[in-house]
Amino acid sequence: MAKPILISGIQPTGKIHLGNYLGALNNFVKLQNSSKYQCYFFIADLHSLTEDFKPKEKLKQILNLAADYLAIGLDPAKSVIFIQSSVPAHTELAIILNNFTPLGELKRMTQFKDKSETAPYNINAGLFNYPVLMAADILLYDAEYVPVGDDQLQHLELTRTLARKFNSKFGKTFVEPKPLLTEISRLMSLDDPSKKMSKSRPAGCLFLDDPPKIIKEKIMKAITDSEKEIVYNPQKKPGISNLMLIYKNFSGLELKEIESRFANKGYAFFKKELAELLIKNLQPFQKRKEQIAKNTTSLIEILKKGNKKAESVAFKKITEVKKKIGLLNI
Ligand code: AMP
Ligand code: TRP
Repeated sequence: MAKPILISGIQPTGKIHLGNYLGALNNFVKLQNSSKYQCYFFIADLHSLTEDFKPKEKLKQILNLAADYLAIGLDPAKSVIFIQSSVPAHTELAIILNNFTPLGELKRMTQFKDKSETAPYNINAGLFNYPVLMAADILLYDAEYVPVGDDQLQHLELTRTLARKFNSKFGKTFVEPKPLLTEISRLMSLDDPSKKMSKSRPAGCLFLDDPPKIIKEKIMKAITDSEKEIVYNPQKKPGISNLMLIYKNFSGLELKEIESRFANKGYAFFKKELAELLIKNLQPFQKRKEQIAKNTTSLIEILKKGNKKAESVAFKKITEVKKKIGLLNI
């Protein structure tokens, strides 16, 4: 029996933060290494054009994300790692799916609303259509599973709707994908635990590339409440609870064990221990990334091979789609 297919992508727009890691990337690696899936991981460079960008920096950003992928543990021998824009079927399918996407569905997308607020000077049609391209990314590969953070759930729901609609109109063509979430599908910001950690608010992000001194500073400064007890209570104590989840993920301890380990120790002590835990755990990644990023030729080779594999799968699906809707039949 063929293994179920799994796909996910990340935009090459900046540095990877702890939210990306705990909500998505770390899970990519676990899922890949479980050997239960055929995995595709791509660099969503077309999606990244929806925000302001400099052409000169694009390649650097793409290679930087590729180095992140590899340093974290994605392995081209186990997963297809590729660049979205190198596989033209993504764009073609997005254009086709646009015609089956109700405007109303796109208008209620919270990511579109948030991004329009963050960058009111650049509310473009690409940003509005972003979820349709994302649906195309997924549907082209017959993916059953999509590991993402919870901010992408609305987009996945649209993907399922579009698959269902297309299938009922033109006959079974697409698989309806399901999300795979981690325990931390929404890591909160260090400077404001009521907001999610996000690249658009760098002050609250801990980046995987941050040097030890910065990690320490950011964790020590992280906003907590005015109490002292290390107790997990996301409603009443969102700041400390967020930090406890991070601690749990890197130490492997249960929340109750963390509570008893730090009983009567105070926030400063806990934060110091958390910073040390993070530094210890991120250092191997940082060292690996430094090595990998140096070898641009090898990174490009890996991506080119991945592009080819993805292209051969996606081409078959886009040909099937075109035929079903009455195109390409001469
Ligand atoms: P982005 O950086 O927004 O392109 O996100 C890349 C991946 O990380 C997506 O799967 C997001 O859902 C996930 N992600 C982004 N921010 C967070 C967060 N604060 N907590 C958990 N997952 C996140
Ligand atoms: N929209 C995702 C994000 O902002 C990135 C993405 C694009 C994606 N296409 C995808 C994720 C397909 C999963 C599957 O993080």
